Amino acid sequence: MTKKRIGVLLSGRGSNFEALAASVAAGRIPTAEISIVLSNRENAPGIEKARALGIDARVIPSKGLEREAYDKLVLAALREKEVDLVCLAGYMRLLSPQFVAAFPHRILNIHPSLLPAFPGLEPQRQALDHGAKFSGCTVHFVDESLDAGPIVLQAVVPIEDRDTPELLGERILREEHRIYTEAVRIVLEGRYCIEGRRVLVNLERGAAKN
Ligand code: GRF
Repeated sequence: MTKKRIGVLLSGRGSNFEALAASVAAGRIPTAEISIVLSNRENAPGIEKARALGIDARVIPSKGLEREAYDKLVLAALREKEVDLVCLAGYMRLLSPQFVAAFPHRILNIHPSLLPAFPGLEPQRQALDHGAKFSGCTVHFVDESLDAGPIVLQAVVPIEDRDTPELLGERILREEHRIYTEAVRIVLEGRYCIEGRRVLVNLERGAAKN
């Protein structure tokens, strides 16, 4: 069986990339491989982590380039590797409409809040400042808007009185690593359908493709 090829875009630490790579290696995302990791930032630790795993990892600096021109370079690399699914993993850039159109329902993002609450930067701090009692994380399909596309999976994390953004972030991150793997598997296995904004997921593994 041919493997589905995943391309990961990141800008920083890369723990979600590492979690996906570990899941692929352990067979939790069967018949998939991470074919390329791309970063817009030169010093992203995620790039070194990918290279250490023997994955093709490249930096494409975004400085000074218009969004469309930059996205063309990224798209060219993804096409060169014949990527089936793009996973944003701490990728600090909005995608151009051209990029989104090139991978219809084939781009996922993970965000550390229960969207649509607290999109954008520092969502853990936003949740605490707002006085929310629960936060969590969201895996969603990507469109041109920030943290806005149809939601595939979410996980809830209770907020504790003693929480700081860092403590809350650590507990959310553990859930991120778990549900990103699950969401990638669902999407690659085609175990979902989209009705309007709703992603209806068949949670039974091994279910027939829709
Ligand atoms: C994660 O919290 C992710 O949800 C958000 O950016 C952070 C990236 O962390 N989009 P890492 O680079 O995957 O460790």
